[in-house]
Amino acid sequence: MLGFGFTHAKSPTDKLIGLNISVFYPANYDARAHQPSFALFKEPKVLGQVPSNWKQRPDFYTKNGKTVAALPVPKGTSLYGTGETKGTLIRNGENITLWNTDNYKYSLAKGKRLYQSHPWVLGVNSDGSAFGVIADNTWKQQIDLSDSIRFISDGPAFRVIVIQRNSPQEVIKALANLIGKMEMPPLWSLGYQQCRFSYVPDTRIKNLADTFRLKNLPCDVIWMDIDYMEKFKIFTFDKVKIPDPKGVNDYLHLKGFHSIWMIDPGVKVEKDYPVYESGSAGDHWVQTADGKEFHGKVWPGPCAFPDFTMPATRTWWSGLYKDFMATGIDGVWNDMNEPSVFDGPDGTMPENNHHRGGGNLPAGPHLRYHNVYGMLMVKASREGILAVNPNKRPFVLSRSGFLGSNRFAATWTGDNCGTVEHMKMSIPMTLNLGLSGQAFSGPDVGGFTGITTPELFGQWIAMGAFFPFMRGHASNDVNNKEPWAFGPEIEKVSRTALNRRYRLLPYFYTLFNEASKTGIPVMRPVFFADPKDTMLRKEQQAFLIGNDLLVIPKWAVNPVLPSGIWRIASIAGENSTTDTYQSDVRVKGGAIIPLGKIIQNTTQYNLDSLTLLVSLDKNGKAAGTIYEDAGEGFQYKKGEYKTFDFAAQQVGSTVKVTVTPKTGLLKPTIRKYRVCVITDKGTTEGNWTTGNNISVILTDKD
Ligand code: NOJ
Repeated sequence: MLGFGFTHAKSPTDKLIGLNISVFYPANYDARAHQPSFALFKEPKVLGQVPSNWKQRPDFYTKNGKTVAALPVPKGTSLYGTGETKGTLIRNGENITLWNTDNYKYSLAKGKRLYQSHPWVLGVNSDGSAFGVIADNTWKQQIDLSDSIRFISDGPAFRVIVIQRNSPQEVIKALANLIGKMEMPPLWSLGYQQCRFSYVPDTRIKNLADTFRLKNLPCDVIWMDIDYMEKFKIFTFDKVKIPDPKGVNDYLHLKGFHSIWMIDPGVKVEKDYPVYESGSAGDHWVQTADGKEFHGKVWPGPCAFPDFTMPATRTWWSGLYKDFMATGIDGVWNDMNEPSVFDGPDGTMPENNHHRGGGNLPAGPHLRYHNVYGMLMVKASREGILAVNPNKRPFVLSRSGFLGSNRFAATWTGDNCGTVEHMKMSIPMTLNLGLSGQAFSGPDVGGFTGITTPELFGQWIAMGAFFPFMRGHASNDVNNKEPWAFGPEIEKVSRTALNRRYRLLPYFYTLFNEASKTGIPVMRPVFFADPKDTMLRKEQQAFLIGNDLLVIPKWAVNPVLPSGIWRIASIAGENSTTDTYQSDVRVKGGAIIPLGKIIQNTTQYNLDSLTLLVSLDKNGKAAGTIYEDAGEGFQYKKGEYKTFDFAAQQVGSTVKVTVTPKTGLLKPTIRKYRVCVITDKGTTEGNWTTGNNISVILTDKD
């Protein structure tokens, strides 16, 4: 399920490869320069000829020595996608460089060249119909959206895939069918996660974990950044700071935490260092243009870099995780994998470095493989982790990525700043990642670099509670940024924000399941509520979680909201209308949202009782759904999951809710439900009721 497409195109002529999906080839297309594809999960089957009335055909040409594919943009079209780069949600007018870059504070190239490359543009036409364009090209390139869609590449001529659909959602689904979907993540990875560069020594890690529990601040994961290593050498532990890594992991597990530890790609060049020795013995390193072992500086000093284009190197790399994971590590953080090289040109390797390839992958220059270096690394990491723990869902977080990386890893948006600007920007960045196939992402909550003020942290965590990936992080030279580090008021704000997230986990988990099946992201732009409403196209303060929850951060000024009924709900006892931090959460009229209990971590996740938040539509009806499984492992793939549909109907002053078990082999849970009906006048809370038919009598005020 996780592979790359492994066949070469036979005849480079334009073909239909799906319902309203066509691939276009330039006359001078050379398959060996681009295939097997990295973006495409597998080589699509040819279904026939491109219909003669096909609307959007790319024009291929060469200009100033660069290869170009250009498509006109119909008037009134809104453009999105292009991955995580800095900027507004709407991408019209942007010029983005796809060359994965360690871009501290997003300061280089005005942040238009960040850690990931997504040669992908989504277009939403003025009538709400939509299209998408993939440039199936890993080489260094630019996406110029100044007056059309132009992919301008430093590499050989490349093919382009065009998807046409009736709505942006349908385009995203078609994209996911081509590039592959995220696998179901472990439930624990949806909880709050705490990171810092770095929590060492071991006593500090334990103290951190204890503080979360002592303060009743829900948290699922503690992250170990590079200082746990001995002199930054990967797959080692500092003997003084972390004398007993298994002991640390055992301690965390005992307290209901999971642990994630960092692994970078650079391997310190050092005699008798086993990773360097075994990598050299296996001839696994990236080479210079003249065939020598390439060395470049990263944290440990001069490093060699695995050439992940070589199958034997990926296997070797996967194998390194065996002893590492045996210490009880739950997840892996692959950082610096653009790759970042401190003393290299433009902060990376020379473009003419040599990758040797193997299997169906031809040898080629770094210019070709740079943008997929991280993707290949996380593929090998994921496979290594899975081999050690075959019954657990692997969790890998990657800083670098390419279109289709979502098959292997979640991501975060790198070294952002503790500023209001960066907090606000994290919304369009995460939304556009979601519109580029990467549903599991989010920023460093609170901002990585710089001093974060209490006010900013409070606003950020209140909003961050609704992002797919929620991790607080801080650099090594800045103030503490744990939820309690900003004083009692912000600690309370954080607790409420985290309680809201944890109560919403059943809804989030259902959405992650949807994303894993369809590719539709968890966090969605407001225009998804009505793609025909062109007023919504630029909205980037408010956002949707699924189709039914609209989140409006407290700081939002005049957000443009979708029409229809959207009722403010209290998720964890808060009143967002009077609160100065907590985002408004509005439930769509006609929706039912399942809420769990307030828990301190997901080992306590238990659906024996559920609250159903019901927001009736104008006909007095509402519907919702829930997906549940073990939260871990792969039995769900064999049918061990269950979905339930909820339906509500108002008759007079009574609201009746029925629960219907639907798909999945798990025995339907008989549980207690409490229905909360939100109307325009207020909320009526019913009593806890066991069984699948629940009635609530609306009080007079309703
Ligand atoms: C760079 C990463 O972006 C950051 O999150 C991390 O803390 C540092 N590397 C140190 O490992």
